[in-house]
Amino acid sequence: MSIRLGDIAPDFKAETTQGPISFHEWLGDSWGMLFSHPADFTPVCTTELGKTALLKGEFEKKGVKVIAVSVDDLASHNKWVPDIEEVNGVKMNFPIIADSEKVVAGLYDMIHPNASEKATVRSVFIIGPDKKVKLTLTYPASTGRNFQELLRVIDSLQLTAEYSVATPADWKDGDDAIVVPSISTADAILKFPKGVKEVKPYLRYTPQPNK
Ligand code: BEZ
Repeated sequence: MSIRLGDIAPDFKAETTQGPISFHEWLGDSWGMLFSHPADFTPVCTTELGKTALLKGEFEKKGVKVIAVSVDDLASHNKWVPDIEEVNGVKMNFPIIADSEKVVAGLYDMIHPNASEKATVRSVFIIGPDKKVKLTLTYPASTGRNFQELLRVIDSLQLTAEYSVATPADWKDGDDAIVVPSISTADAILKFPKGVKEVKPYLRYTPQPNK
């Protein structure tokens, strides 16, 4: 069954390149990003894991722990890691789950048989500190993900979790936010002391509340 927004992220135990984990325990009170890739020793995946390692500090600043998964075993992951490090000029600094029994792939519905019977597609699950799934994304094997977009989405998820705002198209951290429709303009003026600009009765902007 597919995982929907608001569902509790399934818990599991797994071997990883940084030792065994129990997923919920590993997440602790942090946000998390679990992402799958089709297979070890493949070109797009090599760039994606390297990019994530390079950006790990950015994820950490946002309180997000990152973890990758594919249906290869631990010996394969461990053989592949030096390639990722060499190609991307980075030390691998986050765990890759070994899921040769397809336990995680099954729990998170990461195998889409009409795309590939055997390999996971490029799924992303962003999980909040309450262990609920806040975002899902699915890319085909042939398209590498944009990790700056994932960081941008996390900014939006974290902002909208704290304040009664939404974020407009192409929003980025620091831009004006949108007052959620359930708040009247009169109440919004009281709630957002930095100001409220009414473009339409249903489209009201306010400066980002946490800046
Ligand atoms: C890759 O991960 O590089 C890849 C996998 C399947 C098709 C194309 C690229």
